[in-house]
Order: sequence, then structure tokens, then C-alpha cells
Amino acid sequence: MFRPVVTASVLPFIGRRIRRSCALWGVLAAAAVSACAQDTGDSINEFADAGMADTQVSQEYAWLELPPGFPLPAIPDDNPLTPEKAELGRYLFYDTRLSANQTMSCASCHLQELAFTDGRPQGLGSTGEFHPRSSMSLVNVGYLSTLTWSNPLMTSLEYQALLPLFGRSPVELGMADQEAELFRRLGESEYADLFEQAFPGETPAISLLHVTQALASFQRTIISGNSPFDRYMQGDVGALSASALRGLELFFSERAECFHCHGGFTFTDSVDHAGVGQAARPFHNTGLYNLDGNGAYPEDNQGILEVTGRAEDMGAFRAPTLRNIAVTAPYMHDGSIADLNAVIDHYAAGGRTISEGEYAGVGSESPFRSPLVRGFVLSESERADLIAFLESLTDETLLTDPRFSNPFVESP
Ligand code: HEC
Ligand code: HEC
Repeated sequence: MFRPVVTASVLPFIGRRIRRSCALWGVLAAAAVSACAQDTGDSINEFADAGMADTQVSQEYAWLELPPGFPLPAIPDDNPLTPEKAELGRYLFYDTRLSANQTMSCASCHLQELAFTDGRPQGLGSTGEFHPRSSMSLVNVGYLSTLTWSNPLMTSLEYQALLPLFGRSPVELGMADQEAELFRRLGESEYADLFEQAFPGETPAISLLHVTQALASFQRTIISGNSPFDRYMQGDVGALSASALRGLELFFSERAECFHCHGGFTFTDSVDHAGVGQAARPFHNTGLYNLDGNGAYPEDNQGILEVTGRAEDMGAFRAPTLRNIAVTAPYMHDGSIADLNAVIDHYAAGGRTISEGEYAGVGSESPFRSPLVRGFVLSESERADLIAFLESLTDETLLTDPRFSNPFVESP
């Protein structure tokens, strides 16, 4: 059961402040959602219902320390989640022996202190090649229905790990054709025990399958749900400033519309977890580009069109989580927006206008822009409120939690 996270005495208090904010009710209680149904339309209610699927978080997973109200991530039947596997995955995630030239690990582009992003507009691989897209936060990845910015077919963390390891275009860790070398390195190291504990009795213990299963298991444990916003939702009414509370109301309003695509406990509408049947796989064009007046995006980043081949999918990307958004600049799939203020300009204008250069175009006139990105007017103080709310989504404990830190570095 997706447990309501707010005690009865706090519910009316929050209800008074955000009574029209139905998406938020999605993380509160089923009864409240149905009460909201008329305001927000079906999609958000379906989404909220999905968040409340009947999920029994058993004692078996107590070690995950799920935040109040969080369901169990979706765990594949053939890769049960255990602390031993997650721990092995943590070593692998931070190990530069996983790159051909031994200069980089997963963590080189996914830094814990930046909520597992890298601060760059675009990822930079171990041989100096740039990725067309920006590195993504890994918090709550176990709850996503699709992975990466724009691939509706990428639904498995186990499979996703193969891309940075072996991808040739672009090269990230550069291990293509280096499998034998990878196993030589792992075999010579302290890994024998870690693999044996993670995959007891399985031979060979050290295999590519197990490498990907361990990496996926570690990532499923990177769960972020201890921000001031969460503490507020759990009943600590002083956890949010008055400004952040006004920003919360804006975020969940029909004026700003943010919650439609960034709603629910993960702050994205791409959500899957234990108990969800068929997860939705939504993608949206936010009007970031309109190169030719017909909605074109730059050639190397056209969204899911590259996978589906459908013209109307031009510029459609997955909504990223907004948890920890204050520490994950620069923004958007290509890192082309520098700060949160400029992100709000983009949405307020109903799509970005680029006035000159090779990317010039009026995003708000794109035929593919989502109807939810309509533009709105905010006063200066409302803008500050919205930013204060976004900043309240930073989970400081996550950024330093020793469970997710580099195991090769002695903690002080
Ligand atoms: C060179 C930098 C780089 C390295 C190294 C790297 N990543 Fe990434 N990561 C990225 C970029 C860029 C994206 C976005 C990819 C895309 O949209 O195609 C990404 C996306 C992801 C995602 C999807 C997250 C989401 O929200 O959907 C996961 C999971 C992930 N990486 C895991 C890993 C793992 C595991 C490793 C190590 C085996 C790794 N990454 C190594 C740059 C990197
Ligand atoms: C129609 C769905 C939709 C709506 C409405 C929407 N977003 Fe987004 N948001 C997205 C998508 C999709 C992306 C990624 C777009 C891209 O990279 O091209 C995104 C990206 C972002 C990013 C950058 C995240 C990152 O990791 O780089 C921020 C911040 C953001 N949105 C905030 C907001 C705020 C604040 C609002 C309300 C004013 C809002 N969004 C409304 C879908 C939406």
C-alpha cells in the first residue's frame, strides 16, 4: 500500500494551503485524489492512482530505508535486490578499471555531491569525446518507467549499464572489445569476495551479467526523499519558508502547469515501481527549439523521433526529476539553459526564443510544443517563490550519504 505520509492533524492544514493542487494529493491520500478529480482531468488522476498501487514493502527491504510514503522500486524477477549486490555495485560504479584507459568510472559523470550529475552541459567521455546530451541525475532511477533523455525502449537499468561501458558512439568508458581485459582486471583484484557474496554459488561469479546486475542494484538503492519539502509533507510545518510554500502552490497550479509533467513523489511523470502494471512512458516537447519554423531541433538531439521515426515526436524528451534540481545545473537534455531563472523564462514564454545564430527560432511557435507549455506571467516575487520551492527539493543527506559514496576513499 502506498502509505499516506501526512498525519491526520496535518492534512487539513496542507489542504487549506494547496486545496487545488491535486497532483500533490497524489502523494497524500487516495480519498483526496478522487475529491480532486474534477479539477485536473483524468491524466493526473491516473498518474496519482499509479503512485498508490498496492505495494507491500516487506521487512525484507527494511535495509533500503525507504523514505515515508515511498513504494518499493520495480525490481526484476531475475535480479533480486540484496545489500551485497548493491555494495558490489557501489565498488564497480566508482572503479576506474571499468574504463579502457582507467581514467574514468561511472562516478566521473555522476558525482554524488551534484546529485549524480556532472555539472557539464554535455557528458565528456574517457577519450575526450562529448556526448550529445547532458549527464542525468541517478536519484530515484529505480522508479523511472524509461531511462535516459529520449529512449522509450530503454526500460532496464541492467541493460542501460552496457551503454556507457561499451558504447562506441559516443565513447564513454570505452570498453568495446575489451571484455577479456575487464575480467582480467576484476579477477586480479579484491572483487572475488564481493562477487561471491553478491552471487553466492553462481559460477562464474565474475561475469558481465553480474557486473550489470550489481550496477543496477546499487543504483536502485540511490533513493532521495529527505528534502525540506519531504519533511513538510511529513508534518514538519516549519520545514518550508513562506516563500517556498507560495512557490509550491504555484508549481502545482494550473497557471504554471509544472506538476503535470513533474508531479508525484519522484517529480517526473515517468514513473514505475513495484505494484504498477503497465507503466506510462510519457515524453514532451517543451518548445526549446524551433529551427525551421516547423519545430525542428538540432540534428544530434531530436528526442524520441530518433527511435520512433514519427515526425510528431520531434523534440520530445522525458521529463527529468526535479529532486535536487538546485545542484544539477546546467539544465535540459543538452545543458543549454544555465540556471533556474532561465528555465522559468523558458516556460513563462511558452517556449524559448533564440534570436540569432544557428539555433535561432521561436520555440513557442513550434507545432510540436506540448499544449501544457502555454506560457504564463509571474511577478518578480512569484518567480522568487517558485525558485525557493525548487530549492526546497534538495536532499542534503543524499549528497553526502556514506552508503552512496566512493568506497575506495577512506571516510574521514
Ligand atoms: C561520459 C560520461 C558518463 C559516464 C562515464 C557514465 N554516464 Fe550515465 N549518463 C551520461 C549521460 C550523458 C546520460 C544521458 C544519456 C542519454 O540521454 O542518452 C546518462 C544517463 C544515465 C542513466 C539514465 C538516468 C535517467 O534518469 O534516465 C543511467 C541509469 C546511467 N547514466 C548510469 C550510468 C552507469 C551505471 C555508468 C557506468 C557504467 C554511467 N552511467 C557512466 C553520462 C555518463
Ligand atoms: C509538458 C510537460 C512539462 C511541463 C508542463 C513542465 N516541464 Fe519541465 N521539463 C519537461 C521536459 C520534457 C524536460 C526536458 C526537456 C528537454 O531537455 O528538452 C523538462 C526539463 C525541466 C528542467 C530541467 C531539468 C534538468 O535536469 O535539466 C527544469 C528545472 C524544469 N523542467 C522545471 C519545470 C518547471 C518549474 C515547470 C513549470 C513552470 C515545468 N518544468 C513544466 C517537461 C515539462
